[in-house]
Amino acid sequence: MRQNAFYAQSGGVTAVINATACGVIETARKHRDRIGKVYAGRNGIIGALTEDMIDTGAESARTIAALRHTPGGAFGSARYKLKGLEENRAEYERLIEVFKAHDIGYFFYNGGGDSMDTAHKVSQIGKRLGFPVRCIGVPKTVDNDLPITDTCPGFGSVAKYVAVSTREAALDVVSMARTSTRVFILEVMGRHAGWIAAAAGLAGNGNGDAPHVILFPEIPFDRDAFLARVRDSVERYEYCVVVVSEGTRYADGHFLAEAGTRDAFGHAQLGGVAATLAELVRSELGFKYHYAIADYLQRAARHIASKVDVEQAYAVGKAAVELAIAGETAVMPTIVRTSDKPYRWTIGKVALGRVANREKMMPRRFIGRDGFSITQACRRYLEPLIRGEDYPPYRDGLPTYVTLRNKPVERRLDTDFVLK
Ligand code: F6P
Repeated sequence: MRQNAFYAQSGGVTAVINATACGVIETARKHRDRIGKVYAGRNGIIGALTEDMIDTGAESARTIAALRHTPGGAFGSARYKLKGLEENRAEYERLIEVFKAHDIGYFFYNGGGDSMDTAHKVSQIGKRLGFPVRCIGVPKTVDNDLPITDTCPGFGSVAKYVAVSTREAALDVVSMARTSTRVFILEVMGRHAGWIAAAAGLAGNGNGDAPHVILFPEIPFDRDAFLARVRDSVERYEYCVVVVSEGTRYADGHFLAEAGTRDAFGHAQLGGVAATLAELVRSELGFKYHYAIADYLQRAARHIASKVDVEQAYAVGKAAVELAIAGETAVMPTIVRTSDKPYRWTIGKVALGRVANREKMMPRRFIGRDGFSITQACRRYLEPLIRGEDYPPYRDGLPTYVTLRNKPVERRLDTDFVLK
């Protein structure tokens, strides 16, 4: 039976989420006997609830291919949590009503742990409401915190950006350390897990190389140990590069820096820990500092994306469609590492119930005994993920990224839906 598909991007976007969209759309186009149209949600799942969908069929093959090298979320993404079925049945009913009206039998939800939960719930409710939909979660998160899968598309590219930036900034700081800046602090993302901060460790190879201090969310912040480490580094090497995860916390669980706002999932908005640490360094040690917040620059940096990451992002999109066509539902394609050296990987799958709402933290064996560095095991895990370059095409010195027409799908329902 031929039915249409709905694809939505969810949560924070990445440099390669559009490569996954490209994988989904190109693969669906090869199976026109099974998948009719591929609709995308304008602003993610909100597009389905408000019946505001985009007809990807209006885009040429060339435009869709260009998604592979274009960062951001081409259709718009959202942080919008569908509540529990019992609390908010209307939302699920609306979703199925829209799917029914547009004969959507396939749902591809591209996101992190929260989104896998949503995809899981939709697979259950479809059946209950008598309109079964094949729901496939498609992994994506720069935080790299989905369990089971070896890595999450989006992470490898952020990891590469952070490792490269740390190496480059270190060369800058050391140049004038004796007479000017002694301490440079780079704040990176990773709400609860320290994978991105760990990637900065790839910048150096020991012998006093930067980064000299990495602060992980997994290790409670110890003010005195931190200051002692910074002082020691300046004494030994004349300078100190600190990489701090935005999710670094005190032993009591409080983040060093919370912006005071929360998103739809109840997550605290983070940011500003670099400034907090910089002030600590100045007031306690008297060193001149500079700091940088990599923020959206790190997850948008398609110009320096990891080739492995781009390939994996595309592969999970392709696999999602193939799994759905093979009759699977409530699963997520995974990346399975089959060898470290040479790095080899393949695609596997896992039930959504096993990944929904679960976070994979850095194992303790990946963090040095001092709590401020990464181990060889961690290096072995991370190294392959940043391998290779996949430069976008450039014109006049700038990358050429594609903008879609995003043609709306004609509405079929005469009811509006008010978002909670
Ligand atoms: O999607 C993960 C992430 O990039 C986190 O690392 C970061 O804390 C968060 O998103 C930022 O979210 P937002 O862009 O919604 O503020």
